[in-house]
Amino acid sequence: MTITEKDPALQEVDDILALTNEEVDATVHIVEDTADAIFTWDYEKGKRPQLSRLYEKAKNSQWNASTDLDWSIEVDQEKMAHEGETLSVETLAMLGIDVKGTALEKWSKDDWVRYEMESQTWGLSQFMHGEQGALMCTAKIVETVPWIDAKYYAATQVMDEARHVEVFARYLDEKMNGHYPINFHLRALLDDIINDSRWDMTYLGMQIMVEGLALAAFGMAYQTTNEPLFKQLLKYVMSDEARHVAFGVLSLREYYAELSDAELAERQEFAFDAAVRMRDRFLQQEVWERMGADPKEVIAAFGVIDKNSDPFQQLLFSKIVPNCSKLGLLDANGGWLRKRFDTLGVTQFEHNSDTGEEYLDFDVSADIAERRARAQAS
Ligand SMILES: [Fe+2]
Ligand SMILES: [Fe+2]
Repeated sequence: MTITEKDPALQEVDDILALTNEEVDATVHIVEDTADAIFTWDYEKGKRPQLSRLYEKAKNSQWNASTDLDWSIEVDQEKMAHEGETLSVETLAMLGIDVKGTALEKWSKDDWVRYEMESQTWGLSQFMHGEQGALMCTAKIVETVPWIDAKYYAATQVMDEARHVEVFARYLDEKMNGHYPINFHLRALLDDIINDSRWDMTYLGMQIMVEGLALAAFGMAYQTTNEPLFKQLLKYVMSDEARHVAFGVLSLREYYAELSDAELAERQEFAFDAAVRMRDRFLQQEVWERMGADPKEVIAAFGVIDKNSDPFQQLLFSKIVPNCSKLGLLDANGGWLRKRFDTLGVTQFEHNSDTGEEYLDFDVSADIAERRARAQAS
């Protein structure tokens, strides 16, 4: 099957695949950062009590990626791939997917296991790159947010994100089969967030949208993995991420209450655009290429999945939607964003608990203290 202009959904896939990262050998990537750096002379700590509490919590929740995770655990990536539901031509046929005429037609069981491994590595690599995006965004927030309590908190998040980049890079290098370069569309999204000169857009793009999706995705990975080091790593990362999303909600709630309808409309559009990009444009094309299959052929054979009714796709929005609701973004301007989220089939999460307080449920400080006491005693 070829992608033709007659099928708009596949034409869209074609457009997405046409944009690829052509700088895979580069070691740096430069983005123009046009925002103002803002000093504040108002040093009154605790003027924003919830942010101040979050800052105190963050100071007591720091963990050390080198010593608080058990890196001696051996990881068998192939075994991990076998534990998942490995695809095959037969299982695909049962789902009504015919891969005849594509490279997949001749794939052996081993090829499918290798695909599974590559797919895991690709996903973790994109998380690692996303973590670096969070590191940059949060460093930027330290400069641009006008409130001292927020600058203090953001400084702790910079350390958290450095740790996250560190653990994902180490896990990929030592326990898996290396890194994939950043996907073009993920890089473009991070570039757009960093490039925006308005300080709240950094928060909206990173803390609410990207980190909201990451928190949900990490939660799903945590539930499904049996690999003990990865499970522990995810638990610790999620405890930090929950604070980060809370930071976004607590900061923007105050700011958005003062914005005009026209200003809120820009935020609604920005949020929806980020949602669609994250959901529809990260297609693992680099995995198919590495496996010797033509991504266009494969994706055409798989058909365009109806993401609006796919429970996995919907769950990715389980943190984003209640947080957008809390910020007033769902209902502003006649419910513009609510209607758009309706088209994605995700508004059912609206009344889930927002992450402004939920971070306390993810707390691992007692776990870390216990682990350190045990290590000292032995
Ligand atoms: Fe992170
Ligand atoms: Fe984060």
